Amino acid sequence: MNIIIFGAPGSGKGTQSKILANKYKLHQLSTGDLLRNEIKNKTEIGNNIDKIISQGNFVGDDIVNNLLEKLITKSSFRNKIIFDGYPRNISQANSLELILNRDNQSINFIFSLNVIRDIVEKRILGRLVCEKCNKTLNEFLNKNDVDSHECGTKYLRKRSDDNSEFIVKRFDEYINKTKPVLDFYSKRSYFHEIDGTQKIQVITDKIEQILNA
Ligand code: AP5
Ligand code: MG
Repeated sequence: MNIIIFGAPGSGKGTQSKILANKYKLHQLSTGDLLRNEIKNKTEIGNNIDKIISQGNFVGDDIVNNLLEKLITKSSFRNKIIFDGYPRNISQANSLELILNRDNQSINFIFSLNVIRDIVEKRILGRLVCEKCNKTLNEFLNKNDVDSHECGTKYLRKRSDDNSEFIVKRFDEYINKTKPVLDFYSKRSYFHEIDGTQKIQVITDKIEQILNA
């Protein structure tokens, strides 16, 4: 089973992907996480993209497609993937079709998490990510989970692109470049729109209902 999760910045793509990946033994392919790892490891790619990501712009298609192709076709990943943050423009959607077709794979479910801008701004500004276990928390929306986090609070970090200045840019990129990808997929029978403003568990339940139908 291959799944794509779409949604604006802060819509909950990562949160839902992680839950589903654990439950259904899938691999979460977050292009954001893959790119941030390149930056953390100070690779050549990482050095070139650090500023691009911090300022809320999209990274070049070649870089992203190359990073992903190796993983998509890896035998342990085949047909067990949740795409979180990819494809993000029409060119990436075309590349994904090609890669999957060549490798005899397909997409089985697409979920689009619908949210409004006010809600996601609050989610993004409160987000904290644990450097040790990679768990995502929120200091505004769930302070108790932050205070009782099992690794302690000293590993909790804000992302460099999570600030009010660049949220606007990230949103614009989403509307201008990623929304057209939704039109590309929206007529397919396995495309589902989900209300992403609900509680995390309610959204997971809704997605699972569809997966298990
Ligand atoms: P990426 O890391 O994918 O960032 P994004 O698209 O901006 O999305 P986020 O990760 O911010 O949000 P999310 O939807 O995962 O929300 P989350 O679950 O964390 O990409 C970062 C950058 O990398 C891009 O801007 C670009 O530069 C580059 N990039 C990535 N992919 C690329 C590609 N394919 N091509 C080119 N460039 C690419 O939730 C957010 C917060 O809200 C958390 O604190 C969470 O705990 C909380 N939360 C989640 N769900 C709920 C809920 N239902 N109720 C209350 N709180 C919730
Ligand atoms: Mg994410």
